[in-house]
Amino acid sequence: ENLTPLKDIYKGKFLIGNIYNSINLTGVDRDMVLHHFNVVTPENMMKPDAMQLQKGVFTFESADAMTGFCQENGLKTVGHTLAWHSQTPDWMNAACGREEAIGRLRDHISNVAGHYSGKLLSWDVVNEAIQDGAKLPADGNWKSCLRDTPWLRNIGTDYIELAFQFAHEADPNAKLYYNDYNLNDNNKAEIAAAMYTDLKKKGIPIDGIGMQAHYSTTLPVATVEHSLELFKKTGAEISITELDVVVSKAKETGLTKEEEIAQAQTYAQLFRLYNQYSDVIERVTFWGYTDTRSWRSSSFPCLFDGDYKAKEAYYAVADPD
Ligand code: XIL
Repeated sequence: ENLTPLKDIYKGKFLIGNIYNSINLTGVDRDMVLHHFNVVTPENMMKPDAMQLQKGVFTFESADAMTGFCQENGLKTVGHTLAWHSQTPDWMNAACGREEAIGRLRDHISNVAGHYSGKLLSWDVVNEAIQDGAKLPADGNWKSCLRDTPWLRNIGTDYIELAFQFAHEADPNAKLYYNDYNLNDNNKAEIAAAMYTDLKKKGIPIDGIGMQAHYSTTLPVATVEHSLELFKKTGAEISITELDVVVSKAKETGLTKEEEIAQAQTYAQLFRLYNQYSDVIERVTFWGYTDTRSWRSSSFPCLFDGDYKAKEAYYAVADPD
């Protein structure tokens, strides 16, 4: 197949990204990332449990290979992620006093973000910190809407600002993002917008809001538009950080043509919207290449099938109008 590179189609609008794993160093997986994309996010290799599984022992080899590959081939690299509750080693999540926990956060971020300083486009500094189902109170106190995580319990609500400050000290050139899922949900979007606005007002070095965008074909695209508008008003840079669209009633027998077309329509609607907001959207990153290797492989979320063949979804993204 001789497909138009997606990165060329969206040139001048936003960067087009996908995940990176070591398989992308060779073969078809290498061809694919180099052909279509100009920015990558490591799927797992920069997460806290990959970077510092044991306290004080940092494992940089595979992520170094990634930044080397990106440098050689003119791709940008996104760091993902520094402060999270998931894929974080037990010792880092273990209950402890505030000072001890601040030390863990500072050491992790200064070593990891310090190691990659100057090499990354941006960092997803804090990931998924908002509680599902929370609603911003009338007084705007977003800190009452945080997920109950080890960082919150050990440090308190200011772990978020500390994480951004440590990241900025370690890598003053990387753009710093708050990243979360379901940000098309209006309640959750209002909390993220309030967080961004408040941190910015306090002089905390935060640059953007990352919308993960793990969607399905039942997505009401107007909800995404509403959140983009809300985030745009805060002045934040926006990135679509982990886009995939599952087919809601996927059968084990495979994807029907109707389902494939419905999925393509959702992708087309999303890209029409992203085009409208291209002045504030820095990048759109897909979370996977082929249906069979995706983290949601049971429901056909990607632009390419298991044989690397373009699906209707690819053609919809390539020409959403
Ligand atoms: C996922 C990876 O794709 C999987 O390989 C891993 O087993 C779990 O994490 N939100 C995030 C991503 O920020 O890091 C997650 O990635 C998907 C949800």
